[in-house]
Amino acid sequence: MENTEKNKIILTGDRPTGRLHVGHYVGSLVRRIELQNSGEYEKTYIMIADAQALTDNIENPEKVRQNIIEVALDYISCGLDPAKSTLLIQSQIPELCELTFYYMDLVTVARLQRNPTVKNEIQIRNFESSIPVGFFTYPISQAADITAFKATTVPVGDDQLPMIEQTREIVHKFNTVYAPVLVEPAALLQDNEARRRLPGIDGKAKMSKSLGNCIYLADTADEVRTKIMSMYTDPLHLQVSDPGHLEGNTVFTYLDAFCRPEHFGRYLTDYPNLDELKAHYQRGGLGDVKVKRFLINIMQEILEPIRTRRKELEKDIPAIYEILKKGSEEAREAAARTLSEVKSAMRINYFEDADLIRAQSEKYEA
Ligand code: TRP
Repeated sequence: MENTEKNKIILTGDRPTGRLHVGHYVGSLVRRIELQNSGEYEKTYIMIADAQALTDNIENPEKVRQNIIEVALDYISCGLDPAKSTLLIQSQIPELCELTFYYMDLVTVARLQRNPTVKNEIQIRNFESSIPVGFFTYPISQAADITAFKATTVPVGDDQLPMIEQTREIVHKFNTVYAPVLVEPAALLQDNEARRRLPGIDGKAKMSKSLGNCIYLADTADEVRTKIMSMYTDPLHLQVSDPGHLEGNTVFTYLDAFCRPEHFGRYLTDYPNLDELKAHYQRGGLGDVKVKRFLINIMQEILEPIRTRRKELEKDIPAIYEILKKGSEEAREAAARTLSEVKSAMRINYFEDADLIRAQSEKYEA
């Protein structure tokens, strides 16, 4: 099925296993908000993937339950606007399970075993000898998430590319075996390297709650300041006069991700731009504290309005659940339309199939 420019649809989401941090912000939220506001998309669906989160958190379902509201608060305080984007909770759309069930026939165990994201996650979670079936098959469920809304565009991190690929294969197979009712989605990737993989404040590869190295969107100004002051920089840069190194220097990685030219005019007029600041650091003579103070100013400028909006939203939590309920209901209608087309294509819509009923009658009339 061809998609004209007008009916481009976005779907993306997150597992609600913790509050969102500045890595989520710069790696995906900013992008989603731009897309939402671009006017180029007919619909934007943002899914809180609680059912998927349960596939590897079954020892702690309460964590998932608690974090749904945290993620929703983070979304809306960053600028995802329920008037423009449909915010939904995955488990409230039972049609997704039905789609998953039929898609399971289109995927082999061997193909799932080859999925690099699943492979990697199995390793990280020490699941080797005891993989939950639901976890193993979550790429199929994610294909249901994407196709239920006929999403054309899935903004994700590159760790999710194997999921999109798997979805495209399922769509292709379904459309070939049955009828062309499903839409092949495309991933939309972040291009800025620092934004794509923002490290934790300790310089470790990724921000993670268990490593305690995150700056959360909901952190107070004091927490943000303290975390940035403790950031990993260059262990060889002992004295201000020593030449400094940029590789693996977390403060500079964050500047690559967050700094805009106008920040120099506001907070650090000694330098015209980031290149000059970096050059001075590399030559020697520029201390970490000065660079950290600059980063603190930038981060506070970005985070302050988010914090303020969050504080407001926190005053009316029932209203947030109401937004999620409305979004889930609307999403459910869209998913139900797709499911109905899927069942027609599979010709398992027996009671609506007058030809089938007539043909079966004729068989017995003779
Ligand atoms: N797997 C995604 C993650 O871990 C979350 C997710 C669930 C998702 N369903 C999705 C992302 C559909 C994009 C599209 O971040």
